[in-house]
Amino acid sequence: MSGRVYQLQDLISREILDADAAQPAILAVIGCPVAHSASPAMHQPALDVRGMEGRYIRLEVPIGRVTEALQRLQQLGFVGANVTVPHKFAALDACHQVDDAAREIGAVNTVKFLHGETHGYNTDGPGFAQAIAEEFGTGLSGLRVMIVGAGGGAGQAIATQCAREGAQRVILVNRTVEKIQSLRDRLARRFESTQFHALAIDDPQLPSVAKQCQLLVNTSSLGLKAGDASPIDPACFASHHWVYDTIYQPPRTTFLRLAEEAGAHVANGFSMLLHQGVLAFDHWYPGQAPLEVMRAGLRSVS
Ligand code: ATR
Repeated sequence: MSGRVYQLQDLISREILDADAAQPAILAVIGCPVAHSASPAMHQPALDVRGMEGRYIRLEVPIGRVTEALQRLQQLGFVGANVTVPHKFAALDACHQVDDAAREIGAVNTVKFLHGETHGYNTDGPGFAQAIAEEFGTGLSGLRVMIVGAGGGAGQAIATQCAREGAQRVILVNRTVEKIQSLRDRLARRFESTQFHALAIDDPQLPSVAKQCQLLVNTSSLGLKAGDASPIDPACFASHHWVYDTIYQPPRTTFLRLAEEAGAHVANGFSMLLHQGVLAFDHWYPGQAPLEVMRAGLRSVS
């Protein structure tokens, strides 16, 4: 698989884009930066095993040029694209139509080009739900969930998904509590049967509130670097908890290690990454995502 990162100027023509390649590029992940993306590792084997004869490429797109990038991909006859940080919000505005998950989450991570139009989807939230079902054998309906680091894009997607699936209570936790108050208010207006609360990460009540929850999720970026601390106090963890970290590299963050030491069931973000990819492939090629092929591809790089 090619580790090459393409630029917007490579999209000028098929001759340039596909020079020296055995197969045409038909899918892309767009981001900035995008060199680290693990998406090609699951989508290229999926294309190959389904006999699609095409390449899945990485495309670096500067901030402010998402609409242009999607237009060029469409003109070149691409099937679709994945959209990653920091373009998921801009991609929503660039689409002609978006599905319910994308509209409610406010972000698009998957696009499909269809009859001259760009259709946008969000598979991060639904991929999270699939991951929780696979890891812990539970749906999100009726759950009490705490989301730590809810001020970022992943937290917003997961909080919205929990509400969409009928969670009983969603506790939004953030270092900067002002950043989650508008999210709480917006979700509370849209999803009346779920209770929403916003708490500061250092609130002394956090351990007792956490103990009333069943599922704790880290969506903060704390944990990505070796030696990072847990974003929440170890006293928050209990043996009845399911604890999920959206970080998958490193595979055992301090957050997960402390949860495990408290006797909780734990899982990392590998499964969410996998399932958002599987759902994206299913948008491009309905019913054809090869789950185990994609799992093995992703495992080979993470
Ligand atoms: P995005 O996902 O939108 O790119 P991010 O900047 O990566 O966002 O941050 C994701 C989350 O990690 C945020 O909720 C952030 O908290 P703030 O809103 O208070 O900035 C959280 N986060 C990052 N570093 C953190 C740290 N050292 N301690 C606690 N939370 C942290």
